[in-house]
Amino acid sequence: MSELTYMPLDTSLSQRRILLGVSGGIAAYKSCELVRRLRDLGAQVRVVMTESARHFVGTTTFQALSGQIVHTSLWDTQAEAAMGHIELARWAQRILVAPASADVLARLAHGHADDLLSTLCLVSTAPLYLAAAMNQQMWAHAAVQANVNTLRARGVHVLGPAEGGQACGEIGAGRMLEPQVLRDVLVSSFAEGALTDLRVVVSAGPTFEDIDAVRFIGNRSSGKMGFSVAQAAAEAGAQVSLVAGPVSLPTPVGVVQRVDVRSAEQMHSAVLDACAQADIYIAAAAVGDYRPLARSDCKLKKKSGAEVELTLTENPDILASLAAQPKPPFLVGFAAETHDVENYARVKLKCKGMDMIVANQVGERLGFDAPDNALNLYWADGSMELPRNDKLNLARQLIVQVAARYQMVRT
Ligand code: C5P
Repeated sequence: MSELTYMPLDTSLSQRRILLGVSGGIAAYKSCELVRRLRDLGAQVRVVMTESARHFVGTTTFQALSGQIVHTSLWDTQAEAAMGHIELARWAQRILVAPASADVLARLAHGHADDLLSTLCLVSTAPLYLAAAMNQQMWAHAAVQANVNTLRARGVHVLGPAEGGQACGEIGAGRMLEPQVLRDVLVSSFAEGALTDLRVVVSAGPTFEDIDAVRFIGNRSSGKMGFSVAQAAAEAGAQVSLVAGPVSLPTPVGVVQRVDVRSAEQMHSAVLDACAQADIYIAAAAVGDYRPLARSDCKLKKKSGAEVELTLTENPDILASLAAQPKPPFLVGFAAETHDVENYARVKLKCKGMDMIVANQVGERLGFDAPDNALNLYWADGSMELPRNDKLNLARQLIVQVAARYQMVRT
């Protein structure tokens, strides 16, 4: 491992410039954690606090966490000397207000510019994200909903709120989304356009290899990871074809073509067809390695007490077939392993001629049907860890890395 560029930290926000606005709400304490999580991914964070936010958290906390002076007022000469408010508005690539109180939503909806945060939001052309947080009755109020509609119609991203118990003791929609979720929204916002004009084929789900009219051998796979990858690729601007094994999942928005297949042989031919025009193939399917040599059209009769032999023959390897072509697409494979993950993944990377392999450890609580997963990415001279997260967020992070590697290797 020593000769490899090992990157233990996810760098998916590396050099990204994020302006975090904090307004007055108890959820402001969660925004401290958010600053840490954004910086863990390499982001530069500058914090702007409203006056009421400072009743909940002190500026020193945000200053220590962001490593930058905290901006609180249009008339603060010290902060203005460090970076004037117009410069700060231009500096930001994304503005996230978290928590965004009912008051902030109203002020932004009506274009106020009488404090630093509202002024910055008017001056900046950066995409604006508002993590709503307030009492559930306030959120449900017609005035707040009208402001939310106005903001959304203007292209502002209003995030949340989540449902659940509130600090005031009430239960309902009003909680700020968790820092990790807000961080993931920002990560994926930078992925937008990363695959623009590229054609991506994704395979997902298991394959079923029929023994007779009612029995089959299959791999355990819900298809969730592959469907999330297809969705994330579409969000990143790709034209996505999805070749799906037998799963009962809806087609993600943005997938231009879905081909449903059952067996490995059918998947092989559907993927090869789709890849004739593709730039990237992401093989998330759990393809059966073997199929019964003979398939019976009728249900085979049970013979009590007798041992039954089933002769299996090997299925074609889809990735290897593509790698053997004169001009294969950029190939990303998956490896689900129960142990010794890196070793097995690297062997597969090489043997199957892939450009990148996505490995996950499957076991009791991860992989298969679980909503969460944790991934390790490996390529010839590097690796990256994507820590535990829900499958869609992981897929978005994976797409950021696939796009980066593709640009490096193929353009
Ligand atoms: O099954 P295995 O762990 O070898 O799968 C590794 C990768 O190879 C996966 O991305 C899977 O989709 C792909 N594969 C394939 N054709 C097969 C078997 C697996 O493309 N017949």
